[in-house]
Amino acid sequence: MSSNHLENWKNEIESCENLQDLDNLRVHLLGKSGEITQKLKELGGLDPELRRQRGAEINQLKEQVTDSLDKKKIILNRLAMANRLQSEKIDVTLPARPEATGTLHPITQTIQELITYFDRLGFQIAEGPEIDDEEHNFNALNIPAHHPARQNHDTFYFDPETTDIPYLLRTQTSNVQIRTMRNQHPPLRILAPGRVYRSDYDATHTPMFHQCEGLIIEPGINMGHLKGCLIDFIRHFFGVKDLPVRFRPHFFPFTEPSAEVDVGCTRTADGLKIEAGSDWLEILGCGMVHPKVLENCGIDPEKHQGFAFGMGIERLAMLKYGLPDIRAMYESDVRWLNHYGFTPWGGK
Ligand code: DAH
Repeated sequence: MSSNHLENWKNEIESCENLQDLDNLRVHLLGKSGEITQKLKELGGLDPELRRQRGAEINQLKEQVTDSLDKKKIILNRLAMANRLQSEKIDVTLPARPEATGTLHPITQTIQELITYFDRLGFQIAEGPEIDDEEHNFNALNIPAHHPARQNHDTFYFDPETTDIPYLLRTQTSNVQIRTMRNQHPPLRILAPGRVYRSDYDATHTPMFHQCEGLIIEPGINMGHLKGCLIDFIRHFFGVKDLPVRFRPHFFPFTEPSAEVDVGCTRTADGLKIEAGSDWLEILGCGMVHPKVLENCGIDPEKHQGFAFGMGIERLAMLKYGLPDIRAMYESDVRWLNHYGFTPWGGK
């Protein structure tokens, strides 16, 4: 052991290029069977005087080596950090890579708006089958066979050869009213958005479209509740505070009295504007649930009353967001979707 040794070790420490090499060297010198440790172990065989003298020397060497290792470690740590900072550097001035995010279809957006609104009034979402039978789509709704209202529905029937029951694609979400009233007990507040089907195709009709049904059954519900509820909703939906809303007497077999609801609008060469204008536009149907429909569902009309409403979602979306042709909604043209779609976190 000599200052020669020390010089050599210091040189070795100095020439370490990374933390791993340095650690290997530390183990080589100071580890359990390291060079310096070995020297300390050998002291045992010496006579006491020499042992004390050599022991002091080796320990001093050990301290100096440890000190050099520590210092080098600090330097290599800094170097490692500097390398990382260099290699992980990002250029924040680079333009962002374009991300192909999808958009919410205006139908989805509109359904979400309806759900959000009516949820606050305590309506629960209800669903029913799109393939249903005449009982739920017509009969129980007071539209028996040969009723003229059936003819207006242009129903898609399944081939009677292949089914026992005359199955059909539901023509209205009103089938959900029947299923809910038969399966649950009043009080009821449901909102039933969903797909419906009719054999029809032009700029404002597609064979599949969406409706949203609303139904309240509670004791003491009257036409005033119906009007208040729908006027508030319509003004909120179109975002026009004093929008004129008119209830025009109408006929639906499942409600009595029934009404169609019109909103104020202005028609110009440029199109249509929902506002307090010179004209009216029909947007939904509604009425007090017919006593016969309540009876068909086992509800006593003397005890419970209710109102119902139904609206076409495409129609609402087209009016609110200025979509000119319903058919474009189902062509899956990405350019159309990017233009008319909505970001999932709300807004355009
Ligand atoms: N089911 C009707 C249709 O498809 C819409 C409708 C009108 C639903 C009045 C209702 C209602 O619940 O009360 O034309």
